[in-house]
Amino acid sequence: MEVSAVSLLIFDLVLNYLISGSAQVSVTVSPERSQFFKHEGFSVRCEEEKEEHVTGWRVMKRTKNGKVLPCPFACYISAAFPFTDSGEYWCESGQGATSISVNISVTADPVILVSPVLPVTEGDNVTLSCRCKTIQTSAWGPKATFYKDDVLIGGSATGNMTLCSVSRSDGGLYRCKILGYDQSPVSRLTVRGRDPPAPLLSPFIVVRHLVVGSPYLLSTILLGFICRDRARALRARKRRQTSNAVIMEMCQ
Ligand SMILES: *[C@@H]1O[C@H](CO)[C@@H](O)[C@H](O)[C@H]1NC(C)=O
Repeated sequence: MEVSAVSLLIFDLVLNYLISGSAQVSVTVSPERSQFFKHEGFSVRCEEEKEEHVTGWRVMKRTKNGKVLPCPFACYISAAFPFTDSGEYWCESGQGATSISVNISVTADPVILVSPVLPVTEGDNVTLSCRCKTIQTSAWGPKATFYKDDVLIGGSATGNMTLCSVSRSDGGLYRCKILGYDQSPVSRLTVRGRDPPAPLLSPFIVVRHLVVGSPYLLSTILLGFICRDRARALRARKRRQTSNAVIMEMCQ
């Protein structure tokens, strides 16, 4: 039993290490949007979804020219530039596990679309906002227009538009335009299903339970064999003893 307790501990340690290599880490952007004006500041960080202590995650950045650069702990950009800070950002662990990636656009133009940088969930209300660096959109009439996959989907006097209870079909490439002025870069809105798979059914957890449980199972089976053999030996001894007694009786 002591052996199985020790092996259990070792298995658990090894597995925790292996599992932490694939821990759920999400990439977060602050402020939480996908477009920024030139010279604005933003940060990209990695956040663990579970409480487990995982180290070694770092933000990776792929710029427009395809260059991949790590940010040591997080990317803190105090003044963004279109060419060096636009691109794909994601989190990567030392073991090579990765988070989803997000695309950020930094523009020198005066209009941006403010939209969720991370995937939204089916049923969410999503607010799109067309923001202008120099003019107050609300001062004019219905001036902002919104496009999904290059199709006009609506206009707004306030510069905001809410997509109510989004479904997967709302996912796509969005941009906006301030009429008679300028338009924003394009950003992808991703809509994912409402139910993420239950964490209990994750293959890692299943394997972990199987492997951690197996020393128990094995020791139980072994104990079963040992007990059966002992019982057999005991019965055999008893049988021998009684037959000896019989023989002795017969000889007397
Ligand atoms: C980000 O941009 C790259 C290159 O334009 C593209 O291949 C990728 O699919 C984009 N990712 C997302 C999440 O939109």
